[in-house]
Amino acid sequence: MRRQTLPLLLLPLLLAAAPTAAQMKMLGTTPEMPDPLAIPAVPPIAEAPPVRYSLFGPGGAQSGDAQFQPEVGQAGKDVIWVPTPDSLVKAMLTTAEVKPTDIVVDLGSGDGKIAIAAARDFGARARGIEFNPDMVALARRNAQRAGVAGKASFQQGDIFETDFTDATVITMYLLPSLNLKLRDTLLKMKPGTRIVSHAFSMGEWEPERTISTDEATGYYWIVPANLAGRWAFEVGSERFATELGQQFQMVTLPRGGPLKEGRVRGLSVTFTRANGEQLQGELRGNQLVGNGWVATRIKPAG
Ligand SMILES: C[S@@+](CC[C@H](N)C(=O)[O-])C[C@H]1O[C@@H](n2cnc3c(N)ncnc32)[C@H](O)[C@@H]1O
Repeated sequence: MRRQTLPLLLLPLLLAAAPTAAQMKMLGTTPEMPDPLAIPAVPPIAEAPPVRYSLFGPGGAQSGDAQFQPEVGQAGKDVIWVPTPDSLVKAMLTTAEVKPTDIVVDLGSGDGKIAIAAARDFGARARGIEFNPDMVALARRNAQRAGVAGKASFQQGDIFETDFTDATVITMYLLPSLNLKLRDTLLKMKPGTRIVSHAFSMGEWEPERTISTDEATGYYWIVPANLAGRWAFEVGSERFATELGQQFQMVTLPRGGPLKEGRVRGLSVTFTRANGEQLQGELRGNQLVGNGWVATRIKPAG
């Protein structure tokens, strides 16, 4: 069942003017990151900038076709449809280092442009999950026209009820509140899974990188491995044991202990010892293995 999520009074404005990320943000709950597209007030409709988007590059075909013309700002189940500008699509997929072995899943895929670009320009297998069946059908036709129907598929469904644990890269353009609702699911994905969000953050889970283009901003995260527990370290001839806690990608450490700082990026870890020395390594099962050092998890957390 489709649910109208926009305040009715706002809908005519959104349908008449192309909504920006800033306007989408205003429709969300609590914006957490400054949006470089933010404008002090909604400009008069006559001055609203046109949304620039195309599936096939500047001057190329627009998103809709003879069978279905989507309207920027049309209601969606949990968020309206606004396409990500081409420049940011490219920057998001480049930042996530998408490659042919990846499975890219766009959550709320609209006209399919992100999944299609991932397949066409980066050689990945890609899938879009979209609630609106007309958009799903349009995205399939767009993939056909782009020559990537075999690599970019589209599934009608609710992103909160559809399995996407096979993804190695997640893309999304939703709302701050929806990102937060997805956060636990995303954190349970395979360590190293890359996540890119257009415009909206993930609360206290700090992005690894901010992606800026002239038109829009995105954020990039890497699902961290879980390091929580008690570890026995062997660094050269030294031996010490310490507890490691974790808040997203940041390792939390006992004050005054042998390690001062720690950070996880997928399966890669970096520690700074109390003496300033850096330890870099990788999680392999229950061991952290680096050059000249190793640590073994002797007790999992809790
Ligand atoms: C802001 S648009 C982004 C479209 C596309 N990802 C892009 O960046 O160009 C959000 C899309 O999510 C869809 N959507 C909203 N709630 C959804 C839900 N619960 N499950 C699946 N799709 C949803 C909307 O129909 C819309 O097409």
